[in-house]
Amino acid sequence: MSKQDDHFFNTFSVVIGILVVVTIGLIAFARSIGNPFEEAKIAADAGMQAQVASRTAPVGTVAVAGADNSAIAIKSDDGAAPAALALPKNGEETYKAVCSACHAAGIAGAPKVGDKAAWGPRIAQGKATLYSHAINGYKGKVGVMPAKGARSDLPDDLVKETVDYIVKMNQ
Ligand code: HEC
Repeated sequence: MSKQDDHFFNTFSVVIGILVVVTIGLIAFARSIGNPFEEAKIAADAGMQAQVASRTAPVGTVAVAGADNSAIAIKSDDGAAPAALALPKNGEETYKAVCSACHAAGIAGAPKVGDKAAWGPRIAQGKATLYSHAINGYKGKVGVMPAKGARSDLPDDLVKETVDYIVKMNQ
């Protein structure tokens, strides 16, 4: 290495060294300005505090004899059954509320209402078969018709009425 190279190398190292020190200084300076604000912001953020509280909450609570444990009492729902789905009143309502989910657009292979070519041979089987397939469900060539359209709470007669309604729309 020539003397000139030596000199260049030394100067270059000093310059890099100074830049590193300046960079670290700037980072420290920026943090010292920002930190108090950031801490205050987190402390003032109710959502953030709630998250912290929920993540650091104890996994369980302990009932203490003689103490007021009402906050952790197991609440009975007074035997109130979950609100049952309202029962449709007639065939048309049932079709709209239940069957149309598949039969309006022909979902999952369901014969589409209005597609007379698809319904013709099905109707030709006779009402008894259609009733039984609708009430008990069945697996056909194109898909699975769930019993009562998966609404087991529907009375058989209502399902029959609905089949009548569907048949009428496809004749
Ligand atoms: C989850 C989708 C689905 C729902 C909901 C549904 N169906 Fe179906 N249904 C089908 C499918 C799929 C078929 C055709 C199955 C096959 O033939 O492969 C079918 C076929 C039928 C058939 C023709 C039966 C036959 O023998 O050809 C009738 C009638 C019928 N459904 C009535 C109803 C009625 C009434 C309801 C409402 C209470 C209903 N479906 C709700 C999917 C559904």
